[in-house]
Amino acid sequence: MTNPFSDLMPVYPLIAQQILDDYQITAGKCLDIGTGHGFLGIELAKITELEMYFVDLDPEALEISKKNTAMNKLQNPLHFVQADVCALPFKDDFADLVISRGSLWFWKDQVKGLQEIHRVLKPGGVAFVGGGLGRYTPATMRKRLQGKKRKILEAKGEKGFIKGAELEEVMKKTGISNYRLVADVEGQPGHWVEMKKI
Ligand SMILES: C[S@@+](CC[C@H](N)C(=O)[O-])C[C@H]1O[C@@H](n2cnc3c(N)ncnc32)[C@H](O)[C@@H]1O
Repeated sequence: MTNPFSDLMPVYPLIAQQILDDYQITAGKCLDIGTGHGFLGIELAKITELEMYFVDLDPEALEISKKNTAMNKLQNPLHFVQADVCALPFKDDFADLVISRGSLWFWKDQVKGLQEIHRVLKPGGVAFVGGGLGRYTPATMRKRLQGKKRKILEAKGEKGFIKGAELEEVMKKTGISNYRLVADVEGQPGHWVEMKKI
């Protein structure tokens, strides 16, 4: 079967390294929400001792993520959970770290999804949710991948992903105050939101 994420494969280790560098969370429970084929969670697991929860609405994606973790022979404790981000089957204050890349745009209720992520986050925990290529991706690679994506979206007649200002509006509706928008490139709109639970 073809890998729809093949263009992005060089980018996942870079985003994982960014998350490790920025938050220094190397152990505890990590949820990768809307994990798809599991690539970001897998890269983060490789460089940490995190107990990983791969979460996705789509059971087929989750099956593939399971196969991909097996191929990578990860030593971390692993869990695969089929769930909607809007109704996460985890207790309050459960996770040390929540990551989610490229999934927010597909959620039916983004406000509820972000509130759920905040609910399951432990005090002192961090969530990094959004989309993009991360700030460690070289400019030339960024230009190539973004150009390719733009062409695909134009061919489908789609307008593209939520912009920073829209994400800010969504965040305001959540009632969560301790957050900031994070951009991949300084001076450009942030497509990620970082939430810290106090
Ligand atoms: C474009 S893929 C991104 C996959 C992966 N995070 C990555 O960066 O390669 C989006 C994923 O979000 C999942 N998804 C969409 N809506 C969801 C929801 N409400 N709850 C959980 N997962 C969802 C989809 O099934 C899909 O696997």
